[in-house]
Amino acid sequence: MIKKLLTVAISLALLTSTGHVLAQGNAGVGKTKAASCAGCHGEGGNSMMPGFPKLAGQHANYLVKQLKAFKAGERNAPMMAPLALGLDEKSMEEIALYYAGGKISANPALTLPANDDDDDAPTKTEEQKKAELDALITQGGDLYRNGNLSREVSACVACHGPYAEGNKPAAYPALHSQHAEYLIKTLMDFKNGQRTKNTENMMYMIAKKMTDDDIKAVSYYISSMK
Ligand code: HEC
Ligand code: HEC
Repeated sequence: MIKKLLTVAISLALLTSTGHVLAQGNAGVGKTKAASCAGCHGEGGNSMMPGFPKLAGQHANYLVKQLKAFKAGERNAPMMAPLALGLDEKSMEEIALYYAGGKISANPALTLPANDDDDDAPTKTEEQKKAELDALITQGGDLYRNGNLSREVSACVACHGPYAEGNKPAAYPALHSQHAEYLIKTLMDFKNGQRTKNTENMMYMIAKKMTDDDIKAVSYYISSMK
């Protein structure tokens, strides 16, 4: 009996160590295959452009799921679709492992976008701007942790976690330090049925209930999480 258990333990140990070596090898291939992605997603997946999502440190299973969705046309994204069409499942996994092994970069201190839609508005003082930004982030943090009961918006923390680290086994994406501009765009896309119209997609159902103001506030909050 003991001997049998030992054999099981040893073969398990062997299995996990080869699994580990394989994963590292694949990530190495993934790095080469991800060369063409760097132009938009940045070196190592830390995009410098706020409209392009950072991929560094994201859960590999979430990345693969998105690449498959682009390829199948289930996630509507004109820029990504043709690129995903050229990737087979193995390459998707290799690239995803490479990005997942990185670390997302923190964002520089937030500023409110210039108020260019209202030319006649008196220019705000630095203090007013700071107060407005603080209020927005507080509002976003409240929605993130508690949701909104009256509008039935679920608390983000339930799935995306207290540090917006996501949930790896469930393939719920990490969100912390993502660009605010991308977060706002993709939440608006969920809300308007642009990203998907699949009613089984939890975010489509949740974003529908969010106001534009909720989206802005929670995106600013999340992008400031390290
Ligand atoms: C021309 C610019 C461009 C290039 C090159 C590019 N991407 Fe993208 N990628 C985007 C944009 C824009 C989005 C956001 C799509 C949307 O939701 O509208 C995106 C989204 C993604 C997402 C989803 C991220 C998330 O958080 O949901 C993944 C994964 C991704 N790209 C992987 C790749 C990979 C892998 C490559 C290289 C094979 C690549 N991209 C090349 C522009 C690009
Ligand atoms: C019931 C679980 C659940 C809850 C609650 C939830 N999410 Fe999500 N979220 C998901 C899943 C699953 C995805 C991936 C959707 C997909 O594959 O298209 C996701 C994706 C996202 C994305 C896209 C990330 C990317 O990189 O493109 C954002 C942004 C987001 N959620 C924000 C929020 C916010 C803000 C809240 C709270 C108001 C919230 N989520 C509440 C499960 C949840």
